[in-house]
Amino acid sequence: MSRRTFLLMLFAVLAALSIVELVIRRQRVKETTRPLGQIAPQDSVWIAPDTSRIPVSEEGSLVRYGRMLISNTAYYLGPRGKVAHISNGMNCQNCHLDAGTKPFGNNYGGVFSTYPKFRERRGAVETIVQRINDCFQRSLGGSELDSTGHEMQAILAYIKWVGYNVSRGKKPYGSGIWQPQYLDRAADSARGEVVYANKCSKCHGPEGRGLMNPDSTTYLYPPLWGDNSYNSGAGLFRLSRFAGYVRDNMPLGASYKNRQLSEEEAWDVAAYVNSKPRPRKTFRHDWPNIALKPVDHPFGPYSDSFPELQHRLGPFMPIQLVREASLKKKSS
Ligand code: HEC
Ligand code: HEC
Repeated sequence: MSRRTFLLMLFAVLAALSIVELVIRRQRVKETTRPLGQIAPQDSVWIAPDTSRIPVSEEGSLVRYGRMLISNTAYYLGPRGKVAHISNGMNCQNCHLDAGTKPFGNNYGGVFSTYPKFRERRGAVETIVQRINDCFQRSLGGSELDSTGHEMQAILAYIKWVGYNVSRGKKPYGSGIWQPQYLDRAADSARGEVVYANKCSKCHGPEGRGLMNPDSTTYLYPPLWGDNSYNSGAGLFRLSRFAGYVRDNMPLGASYKNRQLSEEEAWDVAAYVNSKPRPRKTFRHDWPNIALKPVDHPFGPYSDSFPELQHRLGPFMPIQLVREASLKKKSS
């Protein structure tokens, strides 16, 4: 090969490589700056397996018991629970609708396939059992369920069964909670109060206390604030989680196909409900790396200079953009 052809070839290879790098970098930027709420994968919505397919076997009985623990947690584990008294009277199902099977209803479709996984809040790899106990301590304002006991094994068996048709590593479309689009203003609790009065208070009550069953074992309508509601360490205390959950699921009967709240109403009512008093609980070990806190994490410390109020109520896009700019800097 002559020196000239060699140099020409070298040049061609280098040019090709830099084009590839450019494309990859573009793609990365696109992925991080894509407006939230507009990601609409083509695949169809995940559907949970039918309960008639739970096997008639010892394992099947465990799955069935797990399902009952999800839908009627308080009966077994609430303040007057048959098995133990470790939670606030709410049921897992109050927030994980239809026993964690409803599309966009905070379902468990993507749990068994993705855990154990690294979670920024813990700063470590987390197992399903630890994730379940997170919800016991935060959303159910209680204490941990014995990880080796029959009840935990049953909940685990059920969550595994719900997600058995999902391949490893996949988070199917329709699982969990849909991320609502950020507003270009702060969420407004005064507007949220109006939404609450018109669309929520007839069930959850003007004081957010909910309504107990006649036998006072659990709630017919769960509380949204006050002593028996989720505490300040819970997922719903983050505005985007609350807004996403209610947008596709509330008032009761709504679904992602039949929404009854606009995006704005969902954010504003979230601001109103989360401005009300609820149990405070500090988890000292949360967020060992504060730079990984979500933009809407409702209390500091933060790694950026935006005030706590903006992290709580928005607007979130400016925070998001500063993050993306610093990510871009790091990756280039
Ligand atoms: C007050 C509402 C609430 C209650 C009650 C509740 N959870 Fe959760 N749970 C959440 C929220 C919010 C998330 C986070 C969802 C997100 O960020 O997308 C979550 C997440 C989870 C996850 C992880 C889901 C995933 O895809 O990563 C599991 C597992 C879970 N909860 C189990 C339970 C169990 C079991 C119970 C009952 C013992 C329970 N939860 C009770 C609100 C609740
Ligand atoms: C027709 C009655 C009804 C109306 C109206 C209603 N909800 Fe609910 N809500 C429920 C019930 C029942 C559940 C529990 C669902 C279950 O266990 O299957 C629930 C659950 C919830 C939860 C999760 C559990 C908790 O207590 O934290 C939130 C948050 C919530 N509703 C917010 C709202 C908001 C906001 C509105 C108004 C936009 C609203 N709901 C309107 C009946 C209602």
